[in-house]
Amino acid sequence: MSRVIAIDGTFASGKGTLGKRVAAHYGFKYLDTGKLYRATAYAMMKAEQDLSDPDAAAKAAAGLDAGALNDPALKSGDVGAAASKIAVHTPVRAALLKFQRNFAKIKPGAVLDGRDIGTVICPEADVKLYVDARPNVRAQRRFKELSGYGEDTSVEIVLAQLIERDSRDKSRAQAPLKAADDAHLLDTSDLDIDGATAAAIAIIDAVLGR
Ligand code: DC
Repeated sequence: MSRVIAIDGTFASGKGTLGKRVAAHYGFKYLDTGKLYRATAYAMMKAEQDLSDPDAAAKAAAGLDAGALNDPALKSGDVGAAASKIAVHTPVRAALLKFQRNFAKIKPGAVLDGRDIGTVICPEADVKLYVDARPNVRAQRRFKELSGYGEDTSVEIVLAQLIERDSRDKSRAQAPLKAADDAHLLDTSDLDIDGATAAAIAIIDAVLGR
């Protein structure tokens, strides 16, 4: 039987690192679904296309190849902000749906992280986690990460971007970021990555009866 673990949450909540670690712990495959939106946005940026054009965005999403997902350029703050903008388009979300649902069928199990995994992509997931942390904690984390890539920014700028991004992701009409009714909430504000991983595994083990 194949298992699905859905991890949704806010920007820089730690869900990506958590997703990778949880997948490694259970021997499951891991998909960072944000990369699909980032790669779509990046393809449009390179082609100097208008991010507010739903048809151009849907074409870019449909034309993605696996190699595009591994481009280090996807990690930048600008690409992340652009990803949040093209993610509001219904045809973009439709174009990316099948790939995510197919990934979720991989045996013995799959961990997907994103914004709408537990609510739209895999509503039947075995376990759903909703990860969040206080905005100032997330801003500090993301600032450290971006500085590591050599990006010239500040905690204040990152905090402002984060508030804007959360608000766009939560208020869009299609598949907004929200916890599924049956999601387990995990606040990582006062946890380091080992603590957050242990907390996630405790929840998952309890739900799966391990
Ligand atoms: O997780 P991330 O920061 O890489 O995601 C970038 C943007 O992509 C995010 O702000 C909104 C969008 N996204 C989405 O709408 N649905 C997902 N499942 C994953 C990401």
